[in-house]
Amino acid sequence: MQIVDQFLRKVNYLRVSVTDRCDLRCVYCMKEKMNFLPKNEILSLEEIERLCDNFIELGVEKIRLTGGEPLVRKNILHLIENLNKKKSSSNLKEITLTTNGSLLKKFAKDLKNNGINRINVSLDTNIKEKYKEITRFGNLDNVIDGIEEAKKNNIKIKINTVVFKNFNEDHLSDLINWANKKLIDITFIEVMPMSDTDMPRHMQFVSLDNTFKKLKTIYSLENSSYKTGGPSNYFTSSNLNIKIGFITPLSNNFCATCNRVRLSSTGRLYMCLGQNEFVDFREILRTDRGDEYIKEKIRFALSIKPKKHDFIINNEVKPYINRHMNETGG
Ligand code: GTP
Ligand code: 5AD
Ligand code: SF4
Repeated sequence: MQIVDQFLRKVNYLRVSVTDRCDLRCVYCMKEKMNFLPKNEILSLEEIERLCDNFIELGVEKIRLTGGEPLVRKNILHLIENLNKKKSSSNLKEITLTTNGSLLKKFAKDLKNNGINRINVSLDTNIKEKYKEITRFGNLDNVIDGIEEAKKNNIKIKINTVVFKNFNEDHLSDLINWANKKLIDITFIEVMPMSDTDMPRHMQFVSLDNTFKKLKTIYSLENSSYKTGGPSNYFTSSNLNIKIGFITPLSNNFCATCNRVRLSSTGRLYMCLGQNEFVDFREILRTDRGDEYIKEKIRFALSIKPKKHDFIINNEVKPYINRHMNETGG
């Protein structure tokens, strides 16, 4: 079984935000004062699993748990354990996680024991004071301890770094050299104009065009055919033992090869990170319409999956996306 959208793109990747909550407040992601959703609006783990089952039956091979911060969701290991059991008898091939790493030390061993072999850790700087500044109160030591523990447990890590104007653009080589010593791949990401944060988006955004040119010169980056199923374009270097990736939604749109949809913690299926349309599954789950109806709705959602996002960042345009990244986890 395979599901395709109206543009015949095969959709085999489901990203699931298991909570809108997070123990950090990254300045490009959230406002300092956020209201999080009441528990009854959030899908239960059983509801999430049931939706995952239907997606898997329709051909989803990869599930990424996100948030907010997925590891703050109570009993998250229980969901991971149940999903992991499906790998041997269904289309599902990989379960993975995008995490801020602050709780990774505690969870790494259990994640590995429940079939998580690869995770993405969000880290924008390896300088302690700057980490605190961008996350508003995070502690870099916790993330580094978490990364070490994950490595000890043979979990492959990729670091995701949002390149933020006047914050880390001049320190990317330090971060690359640091990641290189730890043998961890790193991907740079352009700020996207999700809902309003405390600082206008045009004061945060840097195009990765120039960053790429600079890093290409420093490291003699070469194209690589390496792919992980996500939107990152990877490069290698004879001076490095790691791959360097670039996710460039604004400077170099990759929507033509989009293979994913995303479920919010409240049960909304967003067919594009950069559009506002969604199909709501929460009421369907709570009125128990049956799995065939759920599958019909999934097929309908794909039939209206947008062609592309229309992100634009400048000082004249307000972001048109009405949700923060923590609702859909990137
Ligand atoms: P792998 O390839 O499996 O490592 O994952 P990935 O790159 O898909 O996942 P990850 O969570 O590391 O994604 C990194 C960031 O890329 C996300 O947080 C988003 O900011 C961005 N991203 C992922 N998918 C999309 C997409 O479909 N559209 C846009 N515009 N950005 C995306
Ligand atoms: N633009 C780009 N990336 C963002 N993230 C959060 N908000 C934004 C944004 N507005 C990133 C985080 C993390 C991933 C889940 O999304 O840093 O790597
Ligand atoms: Fe939390 Fe990730 Fe948002 Fe930072 S980017 S506040 S770690 S959800």
